[in-house]
Amino acid sequence: MEMIKFEQRDHVGIVTIDRPKALNALNSQVLDELNEVFDSIDLNTVRAVVLTGSGEKSFVAGADIGEMSNLSVEEGEAFGKKGNDVFRKIELFPIPVIAAVNGFALGGGCELSMSCDIRICSDNAVFGQPEVGLGITPGFGGTQRLARLIGPGKAKEMIYSAKNIKADEAYRVGLVNNVYPQAELMDEALKLAGKIASNAPIAVRACKEAINEGLQVDMDKAIVVEEKLFGKCFKTEDQIEGMKAFLEKRKVEGFKNK
Ligand code: CAA
Repeated sequence: MEMIKFEQRDHVGIVTIDRPKALNALNSQVLDELNEVFDSIDLNTVRAVVLTGSGEKSFVAGADIGEMSNLSVEEGEAFGKKGNDVFRKIELFPIPVIAAVNGFALGGGCELSMSCDIRICSDNAVFGQPEVGLGITPGFGGTQRLARLIGPGKAKEMIYSAKNIKADEAYRVGLVNNVYPQAELMDEALKLAGKIASNAPIAVRACKEAINEGLQVDMDKAIVVEEKLFGKCFKTEDQIEGMKAFLEKRKVEGFKNK
């Protein structure tokens, strides 16, 4: 892979979009490689993923404007589908994905961060959906996920006006969970990922599935989704050990993902 780096530290995978000369903009190759890297993650050993961009300036400055500039209607739709398919893969990825947003998260960059489970950012981060200023709509899920995350009123203001917001406002509107000095961002992302990875993996995955699926249906159906996933945790080795350890007033030695 030329434009994506992958590293594994203990149970945490780190995916870095590495196209710094174009501020990590998403062209077809980056999208293909992003798809490939998520397919290649070993879910037997990796329990959480941190997704970030190369350099200190930009997470992802959007879809590649040069590549998009000459697309036909059909090609535009196909490019949207390419991005949407990868981002949906990330959203539905069995284990949690944390976006460590290290600078610009514009257009496709903001959309990529929103396909992750959790967003944290550096204090120089800038979020926005500038697409209408380029004559297009957000095309990798922005019209759908932004409204779901921060509410339709604020999302419509950001999308219609194409006005960017800085890290402190992203925090205020609930787009990011926390803001850190740039130098501390990766450590904080890895700390959070490590904390997640230290919990019972089958249970963590079930929580992700329950939240994602439950949000698609009404509450009566949603609680049934939860009941089924709750039930599935019982008699796993990690459930037996987790509860035994509590009752014996000791710490779990390390969950086994079994
Ligand atoms: N696509 C292609 N190239 C991009 C890019 C993008 N989205 N964003 C930045 N680059 C390139 C620039 O063309 C430039 O390349 P050259 O050095 O070869 O000229 C390089 O990255 C550095 O960028 P700038 O010189 O512009 O850096 P800056 O510090 O002056 O500005 C910026 C930074 C404000 C992020 C500015 O680059 C910018 O506005 N980028 C575009 C942001 C944008 O509109 N994103 C949305 C794209 S549309 C989209 O994403 C659609 C969708 O939903 C799927």
